[in-house]
Amino acid sequence: GSPDFDLYRTSEEHDMLRETVRALAEAKIAPYAAEVDEQARFPREALDALVAADLQAVHVPEAFGGAGADALATVIVIEEVARVCASSSLIPAVNKLGSLPVILSGSEDLKKKYLAPLAKGEAMFSYCLSEPDAGSDAAGMKTRAVRDGDYWVLNGVKRWITNAGESEYYTVMAVTDPEKRSKGISAFVVEKSDEGVSFGAPEKKLGIKGSPTREVYLDNVRIPADRMIGAEGTGFATAMKTLDHTRITIAAQALGIAQGALDYAKGYVQERKQFGKPIGDFQGVQFMLADMAMKLEAARQLTYAAAAKSERVDADLTFFGAAAKCYASDAAMEITLDAIQLLGGYGYTRDYPVERMMRDAKITQLYEGTNQIQRIVMARNLPK
Ligand code: CAA
Repeated sequence: GSPDFDLYRTSEEHDMLRETVRALAEAKIAPYAAEVDEQARFPREALDALVAADLQAVHVPEAFGGAGADALATVIVIEEVARVCASSSLIPAVNKLGSLPVILSGSEDLKKKYLAPLAKGEAMFSYCLSEPDAGSDAAGMKTRAVRDGDYWVLNGVKRWITNAGESEYYTVMAVTDPEKRSKGISAFVVEKSDEGVSFGAPEKKLGIKGSPTREVYLDNVRIPADRMIGAEGTGFATAMKTLDHTRITIAAQALGIAQGALDYAKGYVQERKQFGKPIGDFQGVQFMLADMAMKLEAARQLTYAAAAKSERVDADLTFFGAAAKCYASDAAMEITLDAIQLLGGYGYTRDYPVERMMRDAKITQLYEGTNQIQRIVMARNLPK
């Protein structure tokens, strides 16, 4: 093939990691998935199990106390957790999203201070870009940071913040020069314990109910100037570069949710008998399973190719990150809907897990940029 076609091949280590995470997810996370959804409560058991196995933030570089896992290994962790509980998969995913700005652009001091507790499982990291009136138009944000001697003072409201209240650390994008739009935005690390930080009531959502989504209020939050991530005015570029890498983790979540639904439906059609035989013996059902597996495999290959691009400076990463997220999330939506169809009326009830998987899949078409925004990103960054 062409020399630049280097699809990521999973190594023996990746396969072993998948086995480990699958076993842990089935034993320690799956038993709580329905309850976490029903009660809309944080999956504490999942966090504890992930931390005990050092799987809550595998992406943290070794130099800062982490496992230094590559993008594919991170994808595999998220996939396997999402296969049983999408809410829980937001722990490793958002830990990467929140901390990647520091890893990509932060000073050595910031890395030392904030990555070690994340790697040890003592702290989680959230990412604060969106606002009530700045969602798809992220550069239209209003949150302000004003310099005051050796400090910055932050004021504003961030919205849709995953794991808000549970995380100790927050990457916050704020306007430092209102004249310059995206070039006047800077990134900061804010701590939950900083004076003036508070949280809104948890949003009442369709899915991923176990993962709290709250507003973050910044009321005269005064932080030392060295908490700025990278240079002044580079915060928006850092935020976008981060999403290039982390949209792949949303694709991973979509893969995991879809795999969970496909596995469940595959088992169900072998058990369920109508007209005197298992419904899986009917070709109409077989064709549905074939389509589901085909879409899932195509989405997986695209996601793994994107993960390979995430490992190095690659001009096509922006396209691949957006394409993987868009394609895998659409596939997950179709596959989970088909899983409900295969279970019939039973699939529509909470006695079976596929309706939860369908509700959880929906968010992957929305967050880290709607799939319409992904198309804008792809169109502006067509493969070279
Ligand atoms: N890499 C590096 N720099 C980038 C970049 C990238 N991928 N994309 C943009 N930039 C920088 C560039 O420096 C660019 O300036 P130049 O034109 O000089 O190159 C500057 O940013 C401005 O870029 P654009 O002109 O493209 O900005 P725009 O206002 O047109 O917006 C957008 C682009 C793609 C629509 C962007 O606003 C966007 O991605 N919107 C969606 C926001 C989003 O994904 N939000 C998700 C929130 S996080 C979340 O959901 C997390 C969760 O809880 C799980």
